[in-house]
Amino acid sequence: MKEELLRRILSSYKGRREDLIPILQAVQANFGRLPEEAMLRIARFIGIPESEVYSVASFYTQFRLTPLGRKHVTVCRGTACHIRSAPQILQEIEKVVGIEEGEVTPDLEYSLETVACIGCCALAPCIRINRDVYGELTPERARELFSTSKQMSP
Ligand code: FES
Repeated sequence: MKEELLRRILSSYKGRREDLIPILQAVQANFGRLPEEAMLRIARFIGIPESEVYSVASFYTQFRLTPLGRKHVTVCRGTACHIRSAPQILQEIEKVVGIEEGEVTPDLEYSLETVACIGCCALAPCIRINRDVYGELTPERARELFSTSKQMSP
């Protein structure tokens, strides 16, 4: 963790209880997640138990405790996608990539999450890999997509 960066972030706050969420947001914006060491430092800075920082960080879905994979996969679970086999597509991706929703592969190549709607319902069922959206998927097409991108990985 970049010690200096964290020190700089903390120094722009007074260390009041109401600073907790803005500090967590600033740390995540700079580190891409909330590293464990940062949570401890934030707890000390504000003067609250570390468990309180953890419970706030895990309560809000905007906060991420684990790093993202180089390919961050978002599977849509919205109604339009759900009725067109999104659950089966998610299962297929979990099988091919070898992780479950909310996890990251040990090599940090993939991370997997689900959302309520990607915003491309006309293409349902769809997923996003980083910023690219892939629509009208079937479990078979999803498997092919990931088999191909796995082969292309260094
Ligand atoms: S429901 Fe899946 S994109 Fe909207």
